[in-house]
Amino acid sequence: MNRVTDFTLSREDLVYGSREMQSRSPEDRIPQSSTSPDIAYQMVRDETYPQTQPRLNLATFVTTYMEPQATRLMNEAIDINYIDETEYPRIAKMSAKCINILANLWHTPDQSKWKTGALAVGSSEACMLGGVAAWLRWREKRQAAGKPFDKPNFVISAGYQIVWEKFGQLWQIEMRTVPLSRTHKTLDPQSALSLCDENTICIVPIEGVTWTGLNDDVKALNDALDVYNQQTGYDIPIHVDAATGGFILPFLQPDQEWDFRLKWVLSISTSGHKFGLVYPGLGWVVWRDKSCLPGSMSFSVNYLGAEITQVGLNFSRPAAQVLGQYYQFIRLGFEGYKDIQSSSMDTTIYLHDQIGRMAPFENYSDEVVNPLFIWSLKPEYAERSHWTLYDLQSKLQESGWMVPAYTLPADMEEEVVMRIVCKQGFSMDMAEMLLDDIRTAVSELEKLEYPTQTRLAQKNHQKISTKSFNHTGHTSSGKKH
Ligand SMILES: Cc1ncc(COP(=O)(O)O)c(C=O)c1O
Repeated sequence: MNRVTDFTLSREDLVYGSREMQSRSPEDRIPQSSTSPDIAYQMVRDETYPQTQPRLNLATFVTTYMEPQATRLMNEAIDINYIDETEYPRIAKMSAKCINILANLWHTPDQSKWKTGALAVGSSEACMLGGVAAWLRWREKRQAAGKPFDKPNFVISAGYQIVWEKFGQLWQIEMRTVPLSRTHKTLDPQSALSLCDENTICIVPIEGVTWTGLNDDVKALNDALDVYNQQTGYDIPIHVDAATGGFILPFLQPDQEWDFRLKWVLSISTSGHKFGLVYPGLGWVVWRDKSCLPGSMSFSVNYLGAEITQVGLNFSRPAAQVLGQYYQFIRLGFEGYKDIQSSSMDTTIYLHDQIGRMAPFENYSDEVVNPLFIWSLKPEYAERSHWTLYDLQSKLQESGWMVPAYTLPADMEEEVVMRIVCKQGFSMDMAEMLLDDIRTAVSELEKLEYPTQTRLAQKNHQKISTKSFNHTGHTSSGKKH
């Protein structure tokens, strides 16, 4: 056989001519024998092929576009385990530099060279660390005063992301929620204080509420809490969950006080992988100063002359995201972040305006303070229509868009809304395409002669489960994911 015939006859060289590609991918047991890298690659790739293109996923808050140089840098670091600080001390230092940069963006009063913070896999881990620190600080004080420390609680609005429910359950800390309503769309400070007592470890306002995109008023809360703490003799602090806002407010609302400029804000968490503009998973938590981080949670290392505090729930973790974050800080600078966040906001404001003008819809709020917003069907339109926002979600999916429909949290579960998060990689032109697709979908839905399944279910007050994931951690039927 000559070489050419040899080659054409070899089934292994033809990925789609191979036996493996004609059989199902393994589901229960590891295959007996090995296969070629090309076949393994194609099989795995094909399994993920028929899903939403990440940049058309307007449900996610998480970064779906980075520049090729950033992607290369992160790929080059894919084999680095962050925890091996002895082997990779420069990455530990790079992470400490990112923490310094964030602490300063958030107006830390801390004058030390290295600020106190931690790298996390996402905001969830960062929130947990902030919460645990608040709990341990409270516990240490109670112990020292000879007071009971077995019934801790924390206060947050009903618009909390599921991480806070996990925090409460995993550490057995009671979660007390302040209801949201059409009149109180964000955390009401006085209602929050009415839930506090000597066992309150912290209050958690949210900058960029996952369900609505709105910001809790941290300044108003801080001021009310200042009076309350003076009157009661408590020293209840604030942890700000700034998963979204932590990377929006410093650039777009620099004069708004929500951060360490406020006396009672002792810790702030954010997602590097949301508007920090880094691929998942990356989060950050920063404390006001070293005294706010209980010694039992941290240990310090000293490499390259740097005093680095290490804290975390995970041990091994990828280092590539740290390189990605540091790249973005250098590449974009303050002005670059401001330009990108402003562009996302411009697109959001444009979509908010256009959608608000469409006959069936009304926006939830006139305010757009983060690059996301929600809207609903006008009540009178919803009453006589044959379709729901869940149907619009399905229609838009046919054109590749993921725009989630879901119900609002506790006490507002009857309200079905739809949300768009605008991120880097979603241009004004794409926004126009989306608007066209929404208009087309609506005109098709308006031609329906009979109600859809979801409309019937709604009329009969049945719960509707959809497949959309909206980052609140709840399905639209109100059940946990
Ligand atoms: C306000 C808020 N907190 C926490 C989280 C959890 O963040 P992550 O997905 O980074 O763990 C989210 C996610 O969307 C969020 O919006």
